[in-house]
Parts: sequence; structure tokens; C-alpha cells
Amino acid sequence: MSLSPVTLRRDGTVAVLHIDNPPVNALSPATVQGLIDGLKAFEADASFTALVLHCEGRTFVAGGDIASFDIPDFSATPFNSFLARLEGQARPVVAAVHGTALGGGLELAMACHWRVATPSTRVGLPEVKLGLIPGSLGTQRLPRLAGPVLALDMMSSGRMVDAKTALAAGILDEISELPPLQAAVARAQALAAEGWTLRRASALAVPADKIPDGFLDRTIADAAAKPQYPALGAIARSVVAACTLPFAEGERAESENFMGVLRSPQSVAMRHLFFAERTANKIPGLPRDVTLREVQRVGIVGAGTMGGGIAMTFANAGFPVTLVEATDAALQRGVGIIRANYEATVAKGKLKPEAMAERLGRITPTLSYDDLAGCDLVIEAVFENMDLKKEIAARLGAVCKPGAIIATNTSTLDVDQIAAATGRAADVLGMHFFSPAHVMRLLEVVRGAQTAPGVLATVMKLAGRIGKVAVVSGVCYGFIGNRMAEAYMREAEFLLLEGATPAQVDGAVESTERLGLAMGPCRMLDMAGIDVGAKTVIELDKSGGLPADPSYRVLVRALFERGLFGQKTGAGYYRYDGRKPLPNPDVEALCIELAARHGITRRSDITPDEILQRLMFAMVNEGARILDDGIAYRGSDIDIVWTAGYGFPDHRGGPMCWADLQGLGNVVAGIERLAATCGNAHGYWTVSPLLVRLAQSGGKLREATAPGVK
Ligand code: NAI
Repeated sequence: MSLSPVTLRRDGTVAVLHIDNPPVNALSPATVQGLIDGLKAFEADASFTALVLHCEGRTFVAGGDIASFDIPDFSATPFNSFLARLEGQARPVVAAVHGTALGGGLELAMACHWRVATPSTRVGLPEVKLGLIPGSLGTQRLPRLAGPVLALDMMSSGRMVDAKTALAAGILDEISELPPLQAAVARAQALAAEGWTLRRASALAVPADKIPDGFLDRTIADAAAKPQYPALGAIARSVVAACTLPFAEGERAESENFMGVLRSPQSVAMRHLFFAERTANKIPGLPRDVTLREVQRVGIVGAGTMGGGIAMTFANAGFPVTLVEATDAALQRGVGIIRANYEATVAKGKLKPEAMAERLGRITPTLSYDDLAGCDLVIEAVFENMDLKKEIAARLGAVCKPGAIIATNTSTLDVDQIAAATGRAADVLGMHFFSPAHVMRLLEVVRGAQTAPGVLATVMKLAGRIGKVAVVSGVCYGFIGNRMAEAYMREAEFLLLEGATPAQVDGAVESTERLGLAMGPCRMLDMAGIDVGAKTVIELDKSGGLPADPSYRVLVRALFERGLFGQKTGAGYYRYDGRKPLPNPDVEALCIELAARHGITRRSDITPDEILQRLMFAMVNEGARILDDGIAYRGSDIDIVWTAGYGFPDHRGGPMCWADLQGLGNVVAGIERLAATCGNAHGYWTVSPLLVRLAQSGGKLREATAPGVK
């Protein structure tokens, strides 16, 4: 028989319900049962004068048991009934809060009569990040304690507040420097001794003067403006209920609202991403005891768009950085952009001038490769050109100290070839950052054929230290993200040649009703640089990797030849008034010309649905191939790549999850339909075997793994 994570202990006359469910004391079913049993034991023992709730380890209960939401007959009732019974006790109940009291943890604390916390405690109700709402009376107790304005803000953003704020707002009753258990027991004894009138949050009303004029209507209207997040509406309705109805009726409203979002596709998608992110850094086949290499000083070669952003990323995380350029002019320009970026952040009030000086001071610009000799990790971020990359790889192989890790930030090129050029391929891997590198969370870590396990493990760990979410990719053109983006861009360009405008193409996938991408393909490439995009196609051509289709991505190359590089030159797919994209008549003329040259019929009947399907089915099909090829370990990794690196909306869960929610049978049928209507001479619409298998077996792409990966 396993031991319960909850025990009832005695501390003098005070009973202590002690929770020990590492790592974060989550409310597993066994924990809830332990709490119920412990409370019964307390009720049965009249010798106790008060009850304290306390958690072992680094935190109070930091959340519910997210996996249990997937159980088909999941019910919050046992825990909610326990909370009602806890709050209904006639003897004082004190929560000893430390660490982070989150979700069900804060709901538990709010059902106690008194909350004492350590100064470093933070509290929050982050359910919205999983597409959910607090389902254990958090929506009812928090507005009663903290007022509806702060309660709504906390629940709609999911943000935590610190102990001081929580005390001022009435969420906490006391902050103590004492160890939490000691402080809580002392408080419980004092409350019991003085015959304190118990304060139950459920018995409070939200004071009318805490409800600003028009607040309730505004709350509902604001949430309605974001229908892609139904949890916001559910939170809004629950807060209105807390303000206008007795507790018991508010409880019913919350329960209805909670059940309404629990099975919503948005919550399924967001919960999937929560687990996907935690799985992504598990690397199959890596020995557990692999020795990590030490990384203290970082070198970067190339101070362009990416090199500069990568330098900032490391400097922000406290690493000293050596930044190497080819010419003094390029070095000055690169450092100037870094400085301007920091100054803009200071101007926005998001960075203190002293912190900026400190960060800039960590970056040492130089023209000498010899200065890289002291670095533990060197990342190359020069132009996307294989000959240049190989030349630099050879120099790095010679100059870097033994044991130093050498990484390339290439977006598409063969990392194994670059690794070979260093003469020490075991030390090499790809570290593919996304633009702007100091902002985007994704880091694709490209595992070469020779990459040493310790190198891979070190970089995966390092990713966490610099605030990135890392996903491992194998070596292939474009790795996970850009290989899928290539298929997606292919269709975007064909649609433009066939008669759609950039605004129609972007609009179809940016529309929140259809998909909700942050940026459609044309806007994205205009921002990233058409020159950058075109060069990858040109390099692919040189390596013999293009399909034998003379019309393949002719548009991006033609734009490049004409100097239309996107935002940086004021025109690309669009022309720009500042940052505002406007139609570019040159592009339409070019599309007409290219379509005529390649025998492509232009038509005026292209619908947003067709655009969405062609873009998304192309991307999903390529994703399935990437899995089958063993380039990505898991479908869930692909979803992290797209949500953390490409602005794919979290409420769709990534392209693999999107496909699952369409029904894989529908996706397969859709691709087959496109093969019939668009033609399949170049295999663009050949359905990936994995997709066929999953559609037949009822499996899910987001749960699929590469062959041999469990
Ligand atoms: P960029 O053109 O802005 O910067 C490249 C820099 O490398 C220039 O400042 C250049 O002076 C410098 N450089 C050239 N030869 C050098 C040498 N021998 N030694 C030192 N520095 C040298 O290009 P960007 O956009 O920063 O791209 C760099 C790499 O990052 C490429 O491989 C690109 O594919 C990749 N990448 C680009 C992304 C983007 O969105 N721009 C996203 C992810 C990766």
C-alpha cells in the first residue's frame, strides 16, 4: 500500500495537515483524498484548537493535477466539497503559504480562514494559460477577497502577484519572516486563544464600492472581443456572478463555465502545449549520466540581425560575450544596433539604464578570431552561404580551445558538412535561433551525425538558462520549422501566381476564426527579409535539392533579383508606409508575368478556405514526413517549434494538433482532393504514409513519435 501524501500531525494543541507530494505538491487524486481523510481526523479530535495547512518542500500547492483533466469523468466535486467543509470548520484554519500558491493551491488557501505567507511567496490563478478557468471556487472567493478588478486581471492574464501586493489586496492576511509552519502554528494558537471571529471568504460580499462604473458590462464585452479564448468569457461571466449573486449561485455559475471550457478545443490545444513543452527536452537515447560541459564565456561570429540578437540573449542572461565581425564597419553597425535595441527598451521603461550598461559591458566586440580562444561555446551567425560557413568552421575548429562547443545558426544548411569542416565534428551542433533572437523563445537544436551526447545535453540545459525552449531536430534542409515553412511558402507563392493577392493569402491564415497566425507567409517573409528567404532557395538549388519544377518558388527569387527585400527596403510582397503594409502593384505585375511564363492559369475564384487548406495541408503533410524521417522525435515537438518560433496560435496547439482537431481522415481526404485539383506531378500532394496510417488507426499526430522513439 502506498503512503498518503497527506498526514495529520500534532504540534501542541494545533493540528497540522501536512502535504508532501513532490515536486510541487500538486493536487493529485491521492492528495485530495488525503486531505479529506486528514480533515475527518481533525474533526474527530476535539483536543485540537486549530488547524494549519502546510506543505513540504519548495512550495505550497502549486496547482491542480493537469493530467486528471483528461480523465473522461473528471469532476472537481470531491475537492470542492472538501473546501466547503474546510472553510465551514468552527475552529480556526490557517494556511502556511510559501513558494508559489497557484491554481488549486490558491483556491485551497482561500478556503482557509487566515493566510500567513513568507515574503517571497507569490500567488496566482493561471488556469487561463491552459484554456481553463479556476474550477474550485477561485472565481468566487478571489473577487470577494481582492475585489473584482484585481481578481479579473489575475485570472484573465494568469499572472502571479507577489506577497506584498497580495497582502495589500486582502488575498493574504499576514507576511512573516518566520519559517512558514512556525508562523502559522503561532497564528493559529493566537486566533484560537483570543476567540477570534472566523472569516470565511464565501460569507463575504463583493463591496459595491469595489465595482467601478460600467465594470461588469466592460468585462463581458472585453472577453467577447477575444472569442478564440473562450476561457476569458467564462472567467468574465464567473466574476460577474461573484459580484451579483450569492455564493452558492456563483458556485453553480463557475461550475457551468468550467465544464463549458474543459472540453473546448482551445483547452485541449493549450494543455497539449503545456505537456509538449515539458517533453521537448527529453532526448531519446542519451545516457542519463552524460557529463555536461561547462559554459561560462560565449563567442559569436557575425554581428548582423541574428548575431546581435544572440549576443543580447546571452548578455541578458549574464554571460560574457565575445562578438567577432569581418570588418570594423560591420562591427560598429552591429554594436550600434544592439545599443539602439537596449535604448529602446530603456525608453519604454522596461530596463533600467544601469542594467543596460551592465549588459552592454558584457559584450566585447572584436575583429580578431584569436579572441575566441577563451570561449566555451562559439556560435557562428554569418551569411547563409555554405562556402563561407565552411571557411569559418575551419577557422573555429583551429582557434577554439579543446572541449569548446562550436554551433552554427544556419537556418537551412547541412550541419554535418559544416561540422566536418571544423575537423572536430563531435563538438559541433546547430543552434538555430529565431528572429528577433532576444525575443523569440524557440531554439532548434540540430543534432549532427557526430554530435557528442555531452554537447547536445549541455546545449539543451543551456537553453533553459537563456530563457529558451529547445527542440531537437535532425539534419535536413530547413530542419523542422523551415522545412515545413518551405512547403507552406511553396503553396503561398503558387496561390499568388494563380491570382490571389498577398493580403488575401495572409488574411486567410491570420483570421482568428480560421486560424489566427500572428503573421501570414507574405508578411512574415517581408519581415524576415526576402533576401534571406531567397538565398535559402538558391542554396537549396545549388545542392540539387529543388524539385524538378521550373515554377518552384520563382517569385521569391524574382523579388530578390529586383531588390525587393521586404520591410528593410520598403517593399517586398507589400510596399510599406512605415510598418504598414500596402498593396504593391509591382508584385501583381510580376505574378502575372511569371504565371504566363510558367503556363499557370490565373483565376479569380480563390477562396480563403482554399488558401487555408493549401497552406496548412502542405505544412502538416511535411510535418508528418519529418516525423517519419526521424528528423523530429515527436509530433508534440513540432507543435512547440511552430508555437514558440513562428507565431502559430497557442489556442490551436500547433499544426499537428490543428490537424488532429480537423480529423486526420478529413486532412487525408483534403490532400487527396488537392492532388486531383492542383495536380501532383512533383509529389507535392502525395499523402505522407504516417498520416495515412494514423488516419486509419485513429491515432493522433500530436502524440505520434519518430520510428524507434517511445
Ligand atoms: P546578416 O546579413 O544580418 O548578418 C550576417 C553578418 O555576418 C554580417 O554582419 C556580416 O558582416 C557577418 N560576416 C560575414 N562574414 C563574416 C566573417 N567572415 N566573419 C565574421 N562575420 C562575418 O544575416 P542574419 O540574418 O543575421 O543571418 C545570419 C545567419 O543566421 C544565417 O545563416 C541565416 O540563415 C541565419 N538565420 C537568420 C534568420 C533571420 O530571420 N534573419 C533566422 C534564423 C537564422
